[in-house]
Amino acid sequence: MSATPPAAVVILAAGEGTRMKSATPKVLHEICGRSLVGHVVAAARELGPRELVVVVGHAREKVTEHLAGVDPSIRTAVQEEQNGTGHAVRMGLEALGADAVEGTVVVVCGDTPLLTGATLQALAATHAADGNAVTVLSAEVPDATGYGRIVRDAATDAVTAIVEHKDASEAQRAIREINSGVFAFDGRLLVEALGRVRTDNSQGEEYLTDVLGILREAGHRVGASVAADHREIAGINNRVQLSEARASLNARLLRDAMLAGVTVVDPATTLVDCTVTFEQDALVHPGTQLLGATHLATGAEVGPNTRLTDTVVRAGARVDNTVALGAEVGEGASVGPFAYLRPGTRLGAKAKIGTYVETKNASIGEGTKVPHLSYVGDATIGEYTNIGAASVFVNYDGQDKHHTTVGSHCKTGSDNMFVAPVTIGDGAYTAAGSVITKDVPAGALAVARGQQRNIEGWVARKRPGSAAAQAAESSSERTSGQE
Ligand code: UD1
Ligand code: CA
Repeated sequence: MSATPPAAVVILAAGEGTRMKSATPKVLHEICGRSLVGHVVAAARELGPRELVVVVGHAREKVTEHLAGVDPSIRTAVQEEQNGTGHAVRMGLEALGADAVEGTVVVVCGDTPLLTGATLQALAATHAADGNAVTVLSAEVPDATGYGRIVRDAATDAVTAIVEHKDASEAQRAIREINSGVFAFDGRLLVEALGRVRTDNSQGEEYLTDVLGILREAGHRVGASVAADHREIAGINNRVQLSEARASLNARLLRDAMLAGVTVVDPATTLVDCTVTFEQDALVHPGTQLLGATHLATGAEVGPNTRLTDTVVRAGARVDNTVALGAEVGEGASVGPFAYLRPGTRLGAKAKIGTYVETKNASIGEGTKVPHLSYVGDATIGEYTNIGAASVFVNYDGQDKHHTTVGSHCKTGSDNMFVAPVTIGDGAYTAAGSVITKDVPAGALAVARGQQRNIEGWVARKRPGSAAAQAAESSSERTSGQE
């Protein structure tokens, strides 16, 4: 089905998007981890065009800067004033130059993030197979209000024109087949026809849609390719539509994952970015957000109530009620519930990060456990070491961050402070409650805490008559009675 790649794709993104009521330009709003225009660029890329140009106007500095980040090979053309879609395409083609129109030119709008590469390919294929001068991607919609209507010849059913809602007659407004705003054109004929587009319409603009009638009157073939799913061509104008598009794309991404062998227990409460990847038999529990370059390997089990950003969860690992960012969870490792893995966390195979544990820039070896209530920052820990409950890697002296190294097969006591920079040798032990400020040699036991002293009878002397004193007295009576 794949047709010859188009000469150029022109993406229209100069409009203001006032109905978003936002300081952010409309096409830079995001769904599923990508800007609206970023989604359109990705779909357009699937056509493999020789040139790709985005027409920018409103907030063009921001939009241009964003596009450079998306893909530095994207060209931009400036439309100073928004004189209509026909004018915008003209600006785009002028920026590309004459060679760019030798072949098919595809035009899409920058605010239709649900449009797929497959639909664009189907449009290009119909366009080539039918030998059309222009092929419009149309769709049957339940409510056509605001859209340009596809007018067909009553006898032959051939497309004759597109009439804008504002310019349409009562009879034309009853038409449910609408213009999606996506077209494939013969490039050279498009340039010619654009030169003849007038502005005598209700909006005083150069309508791209007029090109259709102009080409037909000049005796060229004009056709339509009807989109299989009208929801795909939905343009975003306000934040209600933005959320609907997000839900729709999210459902599509999860459906693809499920069909590829991922269990998603509750798609309704699972959010996923389009950049997330899965292997077969990954399992996602409810209330989970998978964002950025997150990857779940086979048998990985994530959630409930977990947010993973740019995080890799290797085969068979378990991540429960956790927030992780830029982390790597090793094969068969276990994290949470209630853990916070920050950037640079690397957990080895079968490692364990337990409840109320925060890690950052920490390499934690195979089989090593940090089970309870701890902060591990700027650290390297070897294999099969156990970090006692309530330990803090004291990495910050108020000015600089310092590193702590703990060896393999160590057992550190509960409530330890490791004051960095400090190194604990392999197989070493540390006593509970220690503040470790000096290196501990391999195999040593480090004790760094005050010695306990019991002052007998202190409560009776200093808190006479108190409940504590009475409890102490009856306790000593009981023990002396037993003797
Ligand atoms: C347009 C079509 C309409 C179609 C609808 C589909 C025309 C005249 N009308 O109407 O037939 O049903 O899209 O959504 O083409 N833009 C520019 N520069 C401009 C004007 C628009 O870059 O001067 C861009 C906008 O940023 C937007 C796209 O073109 O991405 C469509 O413009 P918009 O004003 O939304 O057109 P509609 O009135 O919706
Ligand atoms: Ca629109």
